[in-house]
Amino acid sequence: MRAVTWEKTGTVEVRDVDDPRVEEPTDAIIRVTSAAICGSDLHLLSVLGPFMDKGDVLGHETMGVVEEVGSAVQSLKPGDRVVIPFVIACGECFMCQRGLQTQCETTQNRDQGTGATLYGYSELYGSVAGGQAQRLRVLRADANAFKVGDELPDDRYLFLSDILPTAWQGVQYANIPDGGSVAVLGLGPVGQFASRIARHLGYEVFGVDLVPERREMAERHGIETFELDDATAAAIRQRTRGRGPDAVIDAVGLEAHGNPMAGFAQFATGLLPDSVAQKLAKTVGVDRLAAVMLGIDLVRRGGTLSLSGVYGGVADPMPMMTMFDKQLTLRMGQCNVHSWRDDILPLVEDPSDPLGTEDLVTHRVPLDDAAELYTTFRDKEDGCIKVVLQP
Ligand SMILES: NC(=O)c1ccc[n+]([C@@H]2O[C@H](COP(=O)([O-])OP(=O)(O)OC[C@H]3O[C@@H](n4cnc5c(N)ncnc54)[C@H](O)[C@@H]3O)[C@@H](O)[C@H]2O)c1
Ligand SMILES: [Zn+2]
Ligand SMILES: [Zn+2]
Repeated sequence: MRAVTWEKTGTVEVRDVDDPRVEEPTDAIIRVTSAAICGSDLHLLSVLGPFMDKGDVLGHETMGVVEEVGSAVQSLKPGDRVVIPFVIACGECFMCQRGLQTQCETTQNRDQGTGATLYGYSELYGSVAGGQAQRLRVLRADANAFKVGDELPDDRYLFLSDILPTAWQGVQYANIPDGGSVAVLGLGPVGQFASRIARHLGYEVFGVDLVPERREMAERHGIETFELDDATAAAIRQRTRGRGPDAVIDAVGLEAHGNPMAGFAQFATGLLPDSVAQKLAKTVGVDRLAAVMLGIDLVRRGGTLSLSGVYGGVADPMPMMTMFDKQLTLRMGQCNVHSWRDDILPLVEDPSDPLGTEDLVTHRVPLDDAAELYTTFRDKEDGCIKVVLQP
């Protein structure tokens, strides 16, 4: 089959790989109908590169049609249309019972000291082949594949695999008081949905991004937006009686603009041998902290900072004095995708499409064009906001 593969830091390719097979009785094989490129995939092209191997199949935002099921799979049959969460969980352990699928004790990667296994996300998360391909092997299919209806287009359902629940969790973790306000930093796909969800739930939303067409898209959905510059924090404070918003959601993570030193560390990990670079990536702070720093500064005293953006490293200097003095609450983590879908499903199936799932994708292309579109998405060229690959 054709698949998008990681070749080296900065480079992906589309090439022939072996078809996936049912390996465990709990597996299913799906024919992929849509697979999106995520901001998280960009980290694999940069700072997480040392944890990837040449030929690894990328992709964790996938939906399709079941082709084959293993002998132990009960809830699925060939022909079912399914969405696949990017987190692979068992559904039964201590963590899964508490809605923390990202911490699943059955699929945790103890050798790496990381949480649940994820599709297409490096040896840190289990080295499982991803879904930017013609077919995907779905692990623990009963606990993970999510059956959806046949009538609505893929775009309504596809984002249940990742960015919709991620945005939803970001808003829940932000703990915004009734009638309160939230600033969303970053208006990429995650920030778009986080702002729309917050607005849908009745909060006042301030969106921040440096890319004009991303601000324009948010404005189409009723979000007040701000450019990223030295005056951003002051402008949002002015809209919140000088205090700052009740919460800030960081939907940027470690590709943030505005921190050149960290940019060098990211660049350096691309040049070093894997073993050295892995150590650098795990033990030295290689994050770009510009967004989280703005969040700490901007949020009102006693407010909450909710990180949806992905961070790494351990040596990042954090302004502990300010965080302590402002009495901040900090919540973060990969998304517990399975926990939020019952909240979101009625919204994506609502005929009026209140979260605007059909107004996010800017580029829809054949799988074979993936390499070019990775670059377009990374560099934010050609008005690119979200790419869907159609195998
Ligand atoms: N927690 C999870 O489970 C989860 C799931 C999906 C994505 N993510 C993460 O969420 C983040 C966003 O993903 P995305 O797909 O929207 O990616 P993206 O890269 O398209 O979006 C990031 C946006 O932030 C903007 N930006 C950059 N620096 C900024 C700054 N200093 N201040 C404000 N905005 C800034 C960029 O212009 C861009 O529009 C990534 O870090 C991704 O890894 C996390
Ligand atoms: Zn993702
Ligand atoms: Zn579990």
